[in-house]
Amino acid sequence: MNKFTKGLGACMTAIFVASGAMAEPADDKLVINDEIEIVTRTAAPAHLSDAMDEVMSGWLFRGTETRAMEMDDFDNPGMIFVEKAEETWNTADGTEGKSCADCHGASSEMAGVRPVYPKYVESAGEVRTLEMSINDCRENRMGAEKWKYTGGDMVDMTALLASVSRGMPVNVAIDGPAQSTWEQGKEIYYTRFGQLELSCANCHEDNYGNMIRADHLSQGQINGFPVYRLKNSKLNAAQARFKGCVRDTRAETFNPGSPEFVALELYVGSRGNGLSVEGPSVRN
Ligand code: HEC
Ligand code: HEC
Repeated sequence: MNKFTKGLGACMTAIFVASGAMAEPADDKLVINDEIEIVTRTAAPAHLSDAMDEVMSGWLFRGTETRAMEMDDFDNPGMIFVEKAEETWNTADGTEGKSCADCHGASSEMAGVRPVYPKYVESAGEVRTLEMSINDCRENRMGAEKWKYTGGDMVDMTALLASVSRGMPVNVAIDGPAQSTWEQGKEIYYTRFGQLELSCANCHEDNYGNMIRADHLSQGQINGFPVYRLKNSKLNAAQARFKGCVRDTRAETFNPGSPEFVALELYVGSRGNGLSVEGPSVRN
């Protein structure tokens, strides 16, 4: 995986260090609660076949202890927030006096929703993230306040909805009415940002497996989101992560919930088609 000079100026390559065998992704299998088998590496989807052969979950790039925390829900700190969201799911809110459960039934009824998001929503005439669909219900069906896009209530709810789809393959549609948004997201993915002039692809496509400072670079997949990070001890939404990554290039960044980040999430999601939904996952 020694592709780290591809497309980068000499001074930029200095931040990446290939450290040989030690930096290979782990040769390990993820089974959660001895029950849910997670596909953490699989053949790249057709649209990526020029760029890479295999797609891999970020789980494979984390250390042994961090990986182990995801194997059992009792050890996964993200599951506390899933339990919180389960309470919210069953609690009435807003002027209509309804809970999510009143209309949707048990949270487990939502299995299969996470893997296809972001998706084109016919009635809205646009590509929506899970967050957008949740807020649509809150605002227009419950008469409740919208949740902040990457706020605690929202990220907890997305963790609940991810958890009931764990093990199902990510299957984001990229054609039909979603295609133009997908193209926009792809363009952003390959755009160089900031003083470092680095694109998402420079790090997560050209350099995954290499070390950047103290971090083992993954493919930047989002099948594991939301992610419990040991670094900030909370769940983190995919778009909050995008924001951090863009900021690391010393660029001004788009905001979570912006059309640009929605398009980017659709595109990044599609790069993980075939991996299992894994959220809430654990990362450093
Ligand atoms: C008054 C009834 C009602 C309430 C309350 C409600 N929803 Fe919905 N929700 C719907 C309907 C109707 C749809 C659109 C039809 C569909 O896709 O099931 C929908 C769609 C969704 C979708 C998109 C599903 C998909 O397949 O694309 C999500 C996610 C969602 N709701 C989450 C929630 C959450 C979380 C809550 C509580 C905070 C909630 N809803 C509360 C009625 C409701
Ligand atoms: C300067 C290099 C760099 C750039 C540019 C960069 N990232 Fe990252 N990114 C990282 C590092 C380092 C991490 C933490 C280690 C890891 O998971 O790869 C990370 C983590 C991530 C993760 C978390 C993966 C997981 O499994 O938890 C996602 C998602 C991500 N990046 C997406 C992006 C996107 C989208 C862009 C472009 C907007 C981008 N990154 C740009 C360095 C970069």
